Amino acid sequence: MGGEDRHGGIADASAEGDVNLSANRRDWQDANIGPETRALLEADSRHFLHQSLSTPCMDALVEADGIYLVDVEGRRFIDFHGNNVHQVGYRNPRVLAAVRAALETLPFSPRRFTNRYAIDLAARLASLAPAPLGKVLLAPGGAEAIGMALKLARLATGRHKTVSMWDSFHGASLDAISIGGEAVFRRGIGPLLPGTEHVPPCDPRACLYGCGGTCSARCADAVEYVLSKEEDVAAVVVETVRCTDVQVPPPEYYRRLRAACDRHGALLILDEIPIGLGRTGRMFAFEHYGIVPDMVVLGKGLGGAVWPMAALLVDAKLDVAGDRALGHYTHEKSSVGCAAALATLDCLVEDGLLARAGAIGRVMDGRLRALAARSSLVGEVRTIGALCGVELVRADGSPARDEAERVMYACLTAGLSFKVGQGNVLNLSPPLVIDDAELDRALGILEQAILAVAAGG
Ligand SMILES: Cc1ncc(COP(=O)(O)O)c(C=O)c1O
Repeated sequence: MGGEDRHGGIADASAEGDVNLSANRRDWQDANIGPETRALLEADSRHFLHQSLSTPCMDALVEADGIYLVDVEGRRFIDFHGNNVHQVGYRNPRVLAAVRAALETLPFSPRRFTNRYAIDLAARLASLAPAPLGKVLLAPGGAEAIGMALKLARLATGRHKTVSMWDSFHGASLDAISIGGEAVFRRGIGPLLPGTEHVPPCDPRACLYGCGGTCSARCADAVEYVLSKEEDVAAVVVETVRCTDVQVPPPEYYRRLRAACDRHGALLILDEIPIGLGRTGRMFAFEHYGIVPDMVVLGKGLGGAVWPMAALLVDAKLDVAGDRALGHYTHEKSSVGCAAALATLDCLVEDGLLARAGAIGRVMDGRLRALAARSSLVGEVRTIGALCGVELVRADGSPARDEAERVMYACLTAGLSFKVGQGNVLNLSPPLVIDDAELDRALGILEQAILAVAAGG
């Protein structure tokens, strides 16, 4: 592994998102970027620390509106990426009105005070979640909320170990990368947190337990095996649906995981930061599985594509750390962020966006399966709600990484933005406010790009 190739940078950098140093990116920039953008990108590169997956950047934006991003050149991209913050679209009028009202009355709420926005949000989240999830802690970002969950698990169980999944992502902080499983975040940065055991994720494509593409949930039994050997694991931490390449475990997987945690006294923590709050067609993705975790972590879209907001929602009986600081973040009970979150939840519920996610997903899934029948470049299509992973494969079955990147840049040229996960999976995550005509247009762009790349274009 490692070394520059045409696909770009360090091969492992393809895990969480597309790489930012590839020849394909340079080609795209040469063809699409004018002097004003180039000057901005150079200034960005001069002032910001360089890091994998972001700086240097690809392009510069001036506007985000509804389902669209607009760059300096005036190019409009339908945004099927949005870092998964944009369920309700950009500049959603209801969210902006709520944010403005809070900004003009209570722009900040110092931590020793509470405020009506924060109280209403905590109550609202608890009312949306099934029992016994009933107590909330807010944070300004997903990684911080994951950190709070890990601390609470330690305090509640008196244990410090965790079991989590290789290839998972839980945020970029040191504690989050310790339980995360992506080399690009972990390599050369240790020592990481002690006691963070990793097991293979439920990934039928690369199952080590020989499930042959139809999950037999033996990977869940492997978690139980570790829990039985370690005996002192505080928590099992999982992305309910792994977002980067859309891995959707079967119901049996979570039934076994829940039972294993109960048998061995470990808490089940589900990370739904990018995929909770409507993305999968349910408010919480775990609702697809008929289980309830001990803790669920939310983020991203909670802030309505405006404000950094995350939340830890836990079994009320885990309210056991009254004399410790679990979060203590400056913007913990952000009045403005909570106003944005309340308006976002209103939109999700009152505008029928959960049902819309399902409808969008059925269209995406149908169109891409039909394309798979026409083009061998399209391998597996995995869809849950309005989240779709399209795996590109070569004739020999190997991951079509360069092709995936070329499809992505062809789509950007034609006005559609999305992310590539795990190197060869097109990750389609449209705003839930997209209408049928816009969805049709976006899928048309994608189909054309895939067919052109498959034909050697
Ligand atoms: C599954 C998952 N967990 C945690 C995080 C971290 O969230 P944040 O970037 O807000 O810290 C992310 C962000 O991409 C994520 O996808």
